[in-house]
Amino acid sequence: MRVKSPIRSKDRFLIFGAPAIEDEEIAEVVATMKSGWLGSGPKVAQFEADFKRYKGADHAVALHSCTAALHLSILAAGIKAGDEVITTPMTFCATVNAILHAGGTPVLADIDPLTMNIDPAEIKRKITARTRAIVPVHFAGRSCDMDSLLKIAGEHDLQIIEDCAHAIETEYHGMKAGTIGDFGCFSFYVTKNVVTGEGGMVLARNGENASRIKVLGLHGMSKDAWKRFGDDGYKHYQVIECGFKYNMMDMQAAIGIHQLRRVEPYWHRRKQIWDRYMTELAKVAVGLPAVPDVDTRHGYHLFTLQIGKQRSGFTRDSFIDAMTANNIGVGVHYLSIPEHPYYQATFGWRPEEYPHAMQVGRSTVSIPISAKLSDQDVDDVIASIKTICE
Ligand SMILES: Cc1ncc(COP(=O)(O)O)c(C=O)c1O
Repeated sequence: MRVKSPIRSKDRFLIFGAPAIEDEEIAEVVATMKSGWLGSGPKVAQFEADFKRYKGADHAVALHSCTAALHLSILAAGIKAGDEVITTPMTFCATVNAILHAGGTPVLADIDPLTMNIDPAEIKRKITARTRAIVPVHFAGRSCDMDSLLKIAGEHDLQIIEDCAHAIETEYHGMKAGTIGDFGCFSFYVTKNVVTGEGGMVLARNGENASRIKVLGLHGMSKDAWKRFGDDGYKHYQVIECGFKYNMMDMQAAIGIHQLRRVEPYWHRRKQIWDRYMTELAKVAVGLPAVPDVDTRHGYHLFTLQIGKQRSGFTRDSFIDAMTANNIGVGVHYLSIPEHPYYQATFGWRPEEYPHAMQVGRSTVSIPISAKLSDQDVDDVIASIKTICE
């Protein structure tokens, strides 16, 4: 499978996950910079209000990342040292690290190999007297089986913190991802469906939790401390908790406000690309994502192929090399959490104990599906895969 003449030239390298950035957000960032108010302020408040409206949620707090959103949600959920929090091995390290930063003990429950989402039967197996919460990840934008998760949470008095980093547009049985559990955590990182460069948001079902997260996100300073330099004159603040520096800046929100206005057209564009991949790659020797369940809405954040010697005749990593030689960027989401030395050394986890996540993690590769892709870009991705696999 040596690539003789690349599908694209080097100067047209297709960057994986490059976002669609348009003139409106560029102008808004410039206006924000000229306004003198770069930090958390009116633009952040507007972005929170817009996001709340889009999701039909009661309480939203913008932060500087989804990692911060997860960390503070887990703290607000009251997780303490010794408390166990169940999550999936098929996620980005931030999910597990946030549990650790909050002082909890992460416990992994293997995935369903078809949906790649946490398997409710595995969660049940992992529940102990110390379990306090579940952090499901709506992987690639596909909703977890939330009916089963809500039932388990109800039976065992557990909180649910949804990791919606891939799932801004995702819906499950008429409910919007991030509003189904107690907390929903979103990412606006550069590769995500709505971007602010770095950025995150928490949706909280309960107003007190949202207020606490707002305070914890800005050093633990009393509510509205961010207004202290506003045109109402200087306001004294009090430090009421030992918080963190996790606030979103107006410069980030300036991007997000305009990105969010295009969330639906961007979703439709990614769905179009997804449908084309499903049709064009149907006869190629690679595994394709499962069809979304009825009465759900997939976020179409990642399009993952499954590749392996047996199925495809070559390894996943040689496929990555061939795509790169064709000047097309790809990603891996994810090597399962127990593959990483830190978790092995700290918890003694072994990939083989989570066989489905291990298998997916060792054979998966994500191909570009950003709304920025032109039809020519999509043609090139398909042509590259077909020539590699033929
Ligand atoms: C599943 C998942 N959770 C959490 C995060 C962390 O998001 P952020 O980079 O905004 O902190 C990511 C980011 O890639 C993610 O994919």
